[in-house]
Amino acid sequence: MDFGMKNRLSNIINPKTGKTVMLAVDHGYFQGPTTGLKDLRKTVTPLLPLTDCLFITRGMLRTSIDPRSATPICLRVSGGPSVLGELSNEDITTSIEEAIRLNASGVGMSIFVGSKNEDRTISNLGRLVNEAERYGIPVLAITAVGREMVRDARYLSLACRIAAEIGAHFVKTYYCEDFYKIAEGCPVPIVMAGGKKIPERDALQMTFNAIKEGASGVDMGRNIFQSDNPVGMVKAIRAIVHKGASVDEAFEIYSKNKLSSQVVTE
Ligand code: 5RP
Repeated sequence: MDFGMKNRLSNIINPKTGKTVMLAVDHGYFQGPTTGLKDLRKTVTPLLPLTDCLFITRGMLRTSIDPRSATPICLRVSGGPSVLGELSNEDITTSIEEAIRLNASGVGMSIFVGSKNEDRTISNLGRLVNEAERYGIPVLAITAVGREMVRDARYLSLACRIAAEIGAHFVKTYYCEDFYKIAEGCPVPIVMAGGKKIPERDALQMTFNAIKEGASGVDMGRNIFQSDNPVGMVKAIRAIVHKGASVDEAFEIYSKNKLSSQVVTE
């Protein structure tokens, strides 16, 4: 791995802890104005200083993020279909040149293993890796789960391993029972996506389990920005990911922060 690649990866994954807390706010690229992200700037601004890396599309980066922010960017570079269409019909939408212009530390795209267009999304990943490596830019492969797929360790292990074999430098996948089996079969770092909003304590427990079972962090969206206390949630997740906090300790961080923000706003 050359200097540029290592340097950018260490912008995303903290070299001191070997872990990362990424904030995913790319949902609009196929879902439109997702709950919590209608005013993306308002939601994200207070979270940025607590985030190791922001996962976002170029359109929202250009329009809604202060370019003076020091938070590293991982750019979502795939898209095509909306939530109303065939989700696996994705292609690369954003060039490496644009990623460099936007000073991205990494680029990310989805692969749809087992779905209608799995082969095209996987070969697109290969092409993206070829191009990104020319400029020392790490690639995040996201194992998107088609409506017809089961989110279990067997399926997600298959998808993560394929992503790594094709050359992804890190992989994002969902939590499931026996997550450790996915980590065991994947030679590159795995970050966990949060999935649909669940109660805060459950999201913290899921984060704790994923880290314990081999994840290198999270790239979480809805369980942070749809929380009643997004700042408290990021702080709590950071405590688990970077400091090895227990679920009780993390939940206390979330709850205390909620109380103090109520005191300030009331
Ligand atoms: C959508 C994505 C999202 O970034 C990913 O799912 C993380 O967000 P969440 O924690 O809300 O699931 O890649 O395809």
